[in-house]
Amino acid sequence: MDVFFRSGDAARESADALIVPVAAPANGGEPLTGPAAQLDADLEGELARLAADARFSGKHGSTLVVPTLGRLPARRIVLAGVGTPDDLDAEAVRRAWGAAAIAARDAGAARVASTMPPSGTGLDPAASLAAAAEAAALAVYRFTKHFGAGRRDDPAPRTLDALAFVDEGLDQAEADAALARGAAIAAGAALARDLVNEPASVLDPAAMADHARRVAETHGLVVEVLGPPELATIGAGALLAVGKGSASEPRLIRLTYRPESDRGANGQTGSTAQTMPRTIGLVGKCITFDTGGYSIKPYEGMLEMKGDMAGGAAVLGAMTALRALGCRHTVHGIIPAAENMISGTAFRPGDILTAMNGVTIEILSTDAEGRLVLADGLVYAARQGAEELIDLATLTGAAVVALGDGTTALFADDDALATRLLDASAAVGERFWRMPLIAEFNDKIKGDVGDIKNTGGRQGGAITAALFLQRFTEGKPWAHLDIAGSARAAKGNGYVPKGATGVGVRTLLAYLTA
Ligand code: BES
Ligand code: MN
Ligand code: ZN
Repeated sequence: MDVFFRSGDAARESADALIVPVAAPANGGEPLTGPAAQLDADLEGELARLAADARFSGKHGSTLVVPTLGRLPARRIVLAGVGTPDDLDAEAVRRAWGAAAIAARDAGAARVASTMPPSGTGLDPAASLAAAAEAAALAVYRFTKHFGAGRRDDPAPRTLDALAFVDEGLDQAEADAALARGAAIAAGAALARDLVNEPASVLDPAAMADHARRVAETHGLVVEVLGPPELATIGAGALLAVGKGSASEPRLIRLTYRPESDRGANGQTGSTAQTMPRTIGLVGKCITFDTGGYSIKPYEGMLEMKGDMAGGAAVLGAMTALRALGCRHTVHGIIPAAENMISGTAFRPGDILTAMNGVTIEILSTDAEGRLVLADGLVYAARQGAEELIDLATLTGAAVVALGDGTTALFADDDALATRLLDASAAVGERFWRMPLIAEFNDKIKGDVGDIKNTGGRQGGAITAALFLQRFTEGKPWAHLDIAGSARAAKGNGYVPKGATGVGVRTLLAYLTA
């Protein structure tokens, strides 16, 4: 989809559809205001009557598609509910433009025009435009690359080809910059979604490394890929053990972003309101398939395990957008990648591994493999010079039991870091919930014949997994995002379609550019 801005009068645009916001009547007042009221006048009040008939109230995320039958240059009007003006924020704009883009596409519109999304106190016009463009792109995402000959008789899937924002007020350069920001964020999330949706037969650790090389090339990052011999040299015994059972060998991938200068590439200034530039390590679990190993998963448990690399995918997705967003920090993206399989060379329960920092790990379950690859990933990130660590992982079923679908469990041993991440997640509309690191539970993972065990039993399973990771953070401030419940969605919700969600990408980008 092509998204651009043009100076002009949106109401005069010829297009397959024209998106127009409608605010919810605060207290049963006049339903159509702003640009919708103007179009309603052009249509002699029929737009308001149709909206009233359909009980369209402007509730946020609701839409109404109205054909104009030759009476306006646009063939359809898509009314997009933005909720009450008091509740207007970037999320209201994202919900509205996501829903409107889907409604336009599903009505068969390919070339769509849009009025400016609303702005107000706390939401300037450029930020609102960026949010609208970002959400439209996120909403119309589909994973169709494996559709084949068996689909030939299906009606062709509709696509939204172009979205033109048209307005007289906003400056072209400012609008272009806002749209570029929205596009970079949406593209990062789309890459993460693509990788999670991809089957394990296509996306193995080496293929993930190839994606990282391509990302580095395209976005001006340094890339380093370590295979088994290099991993043995640095002592990454935990990652090596998890990958041993697979014919697809493990990889440790590092991408490094360095800002152009203290100012940042995109005009971000080093104002005192912003945090000082620092070096941040992002570590993403990338198990390209998790059978559970010899502690094998049952049928249902294994079904979605091609997505057990969503943490790594989020890191890679976020890395793509740092240059475009003018991030002022140095960022290392570390992706420990392996496939957890069964074979004559696989690791076993009872094995004792030595991680990169010399900590020995007793294997109780080969299905608790995520924390093992993260152990080496975290140590590697810290030793690259990261002053702060954030890991993302589809780590535990226990996190899903605790919080249900759609919420990311946040653990952190630094309150300021936790607060900043919660703020970032709230700003982008990703639901995070902080969980406790209960230090007494360290007893549950105390080793019998090694330093620590890789599971702490069923109770508090997400917490003991986090406590395990904490042994590998080299004393750096650290946050852990358990995305087991939020990396995939069983059904679509707003601008997040069914399937891989790309969770984490937008929160990380908000955090890294705050
Ligand atoms: N990849 C799974 C966790 C998972 C479960 C992700 C459901 C997404 C949806 C992880 O490797 C795993 O198997 N965890 C075990 C840990 C247990 C053996 C201590 C779990 O949660 O059961
Ligand atoms: Mn597992
Ligand atoms: Zn796993």
